Amino acid sequence: MATSSSRASALALLLCALSASSFHVAISGPPAPSPGKDDFLSCLTKTVPPRLLFAKSSPAYGSVWSSTIRNLKFLSDKTVKPLYIITPTEPCHIQATVSCGRKHGMRLRVRSGGHDYEGLSYRSDKAEPFAVVDLSKMRQVRIDGKQATAWVDSGAQLGEIYYAVAKETPKLGFPAGVCATIGVGGHFSGGGFGMMLRKYGTAADLVIDAKVVDAEGRLLDRKAMGEDLFWAIRGGGGASFGIVVSWQVKLVPVPPTVTVFQIHKGVKDGAVDLVAKWQQVAPSLPEDLMIRILAMGQDALFEALFLGTCKDLVPLMNARFPELGMNQTHCNEMSWIQSVPYIPLGKTGTVKDLLNRTSNIRAFGKYKSDYVRDPIPRSVWEKIFTWLVKPGAGVMIMDPYGGKISSIADDATPFPHRQGMLFNIQYVNYWFGEGSGAQPNQWSRDMYAFMEPYVTKNPRQAYVNYRDMDLGVNQVVGDVSTYESGKVWGEKYFKGNFERLARTKAKVDPQDYFRNEQSIPPLLK
Ligand SMILES: Cc1cc2nc3c(=O)[nH]c(=O)nc-3n(C[C@H](O)[C@H](O)[C@H](O)COP(=O)(O)OP(=O)(O)OC[C@H]3O[C@@H](n4cnc5c(N)ncnc54)[C@H](O)[C@@H]3O)c2cc1C
Ligand SMILES: *[C@@H]1O[C@H](CO)[C@@H](O)[C@H](O)[C@H]1NC(C)=O
Ligand SMILES: *[C@@H]1O[C@H](CO)[C@@H](O)[C@H](O)[C@H]1NC(C)=O
Repeated sequence: MATSSSRASALALLLCALSASSFHVAISGPPAPSPGKDDFLSCLTKTVPPRLLFAKSSPAYGSVWSSTIRNLKFLSDKTVKPLYIITPTEPCHIQATVSCGRKHGMRLRVRSGGHDYEGLSYRSDKAEPFAVVDLSKMRQVRIDGKQATAWVDSGAQLGEIYYAVAKETPKLGFPAGVCATIGVGGHFSGGGFGMMLRKYGTAADLVIDAKVVDAEGRLLDRKAMGEDLFWAIRGGGGASFGIVVSWQVKLVPVPPTVTVFQIHKGVKDGAVDLVAKWQQVAPSLPEDLMIRILAMGQDALFEALFLGTCKDLVPLMNARFPELGMNQTHCNEMSWIQSVPYIPLGKTGTVKDLLNRTSNIRAFGKYKSDYVRDPIPRSVWEKIFTWLVKPGAGVMIMDPYGGKISSIADDATPFPHRQGMLFNIQYVNYWFGEGSGAQPNQWSRDMYAFMEPYVTKNPRQAYVNYRDMDLGVNQVVGDVSTYESGKVWGEKYFKGNFERLARTKAKVDPQDYFRNEQSIPPLLK
């Protein structure tokens, strides 16, 4: 049986590995003929330098395609890959790609950090010709310390923003996901949250301007795109409305010292009671304190970030959650920027790691999510811990809400999981390849079925950044995704906001050029 700390480092590696070793993928044979593809390429080469274009026959195609794949199951031969990859360095390259794509019938997928759980940024479920616009060469972060704002390109990874902000001034930070390699483009598009969500909400809540290439190939800022489109790109999920080139965000104040603690509790040490108590305590704590849980096997890790010192945290914990037994020996005081690598990687994580773009996630994964509005009975938590030791069992990650994220109106952005929400659950099912014992996908699906009575209903809400195609996929009729098919999965991610997203899609891309298995369909009537 693994110890708590080796389990914790296995988790870190699984969820957020930051390390060398890139994948090598055999390049497949010549591309299958498809209509218009040569025209597409000759159109493109009028604007885009050839060194930024990769056809399937290019020697570098395999390494460029696999460079940011974070889920090994999509490296399989069965994956439908793009005919071309374009790695733009200028907005005009993106504009040309969209214009040529529309003219010559080549659909596009766009990839920023490649973390999509279903791989929709670089692969298709259907045998269809498409090209990938890979933004990994567009990743500038420009900070305006005086205004406390920044312009960040979509191809930047979250760690690059955190690093640049802290380098400008230790007084500012930015609230987004816990994993440094996540791409800005997909993350902001779906909301994006991490350890400061209770203080500052989602990353998308802090976006104040953006530059988007629309389905006509135009480059639009907030004023030019209008408020419907600007609303839609801040949480409506990537890939439906255009290609977001860069985002202007507000930065947030952080104190000189923050405190992190990580307390493991086994089922033998009362984990069931503690988790049952946590679900009522954690969402109503002061906004400066976030305590999330990673539950795995018979262990619950209570992981906290407090925007303040140990001296202030200990009495707060004693008053609000004495059962956890937290005291000053658990405190790790540091600067906010040091806490960013510390949380996923522990003591070995350094600030420089935030810039490291290589990842060696060795797992195959299937992810699902839920939201909880009413506390789950203690007797059910007891059963949940028996689910966590079944064959093939994965991890449950629970992020408490309340505070800022819950104080924003449900329709202020497309991200609707706000008022009265206690916490988010992510089920992480992983395995290490064919024949590795566990049956791929099965645990998370069984677990999800078991949880149904205890989570949100009508709709059963889910987080679009934890993309899950089990929730449904679009049907295409007359070359346009249907509203009815989209509604099935769309209301789970967006509740009542789905309709406004579909009406916005009808205004900006009525022909459904930007589409994938779970893109917003246009509501044309
Ligand atoms: C290891 C790991 C840890 C994670 N941790 C967290 C976390 O702490 N908090 C959290 O909220 N989420 C987390 N996620 C989920 C993550 O936020 C989403 O997967 C997010 O969409 C990834 O963005 P990306 O740019 O890396 O992905 P991509 O795969 O590049 O893109 C995701 C989707 O957005 C589209 N897209 C990408 N770029 C653009 C663009 N510029 N314009 C328009 N559409 C675009 C893509 O086509 C695709 O549909 C995690 C995921 C992984 C794999
Ligand atoms: C990235 O991380 C790996 C392992 O963690 C390390 O070997 C490599 O040197 C790092 N790269 C940089 C540029 O720091
Ligand atoms: C702090 O808590 C740990 C148990 O988690 C305990 O072993 C230790 O004695 C406590 N220390 C103090 C100073 O209370």
